Amino acid sequence: MREKPRKLQLPEKLRWNHNAWYRRWLLRQLPSRARSALDVGCGLGELARELKATGVVTGEVTAIDASARMIERASATGAGVRWIHGDVFTHDLGRYDVVTAEASLHHLPLREGLTRLAGLVGPGGTLVVVGLYMTATPADRAMEVVTLPANALVGLAKALRGGEQPHDPEMPVVMHAPTLAEIRAAAREILPGARVRRRLFWRYSMVWHAPQVL
Ligand SMILES: C[S@@+](CC[C@H](N)C(=O)[O-])C[C@H]1O[C@@H](n2cnc3c(N)ncnc32)[C@H](O)[C@@H]1O
Repeated sequence: MREKPRKLQLPEKLRWNHNAWYRRWLLRQLPSRARSALDVGCGLGELARELKATGVVTGEVTAIDASARMIERASATGAGVRWIHGDVFTHDLGRYDVVTAEASLHHLPLREGLTRLAGLVGPGGTLVVVGLYMTATPADRAMEVVTLPANALVGLAKALRGGEQPHDPEMPVVMHAPTLAEIRAAAREILPGARVRRRLFWRYSMVWHAPQVL
């Protein structure tokens, strides 16, 4: 995979966390009732805690992360979530009515990652991904004409309200991401019917509903 080009950086005070920006949208993609949910690459566990807090999930919310430190810190919050320190590829997981991956798919090889995520979704279940893509095409750069000023404006608005930590210093990061074309092609092949949408702030979203009969 290619290196992600360096983005124009805002001054420190104006930087903010793009990963949580689509959280409310993500939660709106959930079915009205789900027996179980899994958050993949949960980091510090904010999304898993919110999945639990929605009350939509009648059974267990499980969250997995490959980083021992992330799980140590996430599990310190308890929150009624089952926290797992493990690799999503190798850990023995079941199938879930809801599977989420927020800013974690680009940590995995794309096709293998999508295949694994799909395999974790139970019949009729829902997969919701909010992920990063690499700016690579004229259309991507055209999007930046909107994204760059919007990024500064949101940063300014947040700074006026006290600021937001852009990135936890202990959060694992990788400096590469697939292109949107690569993501769309992989989704078409692995998750037929998945809806992939380009988003602001170098993000895309993907929603896939598994067939009722797998
Ligand atoms: C950029 S962080 C995003 C964390 C969180 N979802 C958020 O939005 O704040 C990506 C997370 O994916 C985790 N991760 C990477 N590879 C993984 C794997 N194979 N299995 C489980 N988690 C993984 C990393 O440890 C990291 O915490």
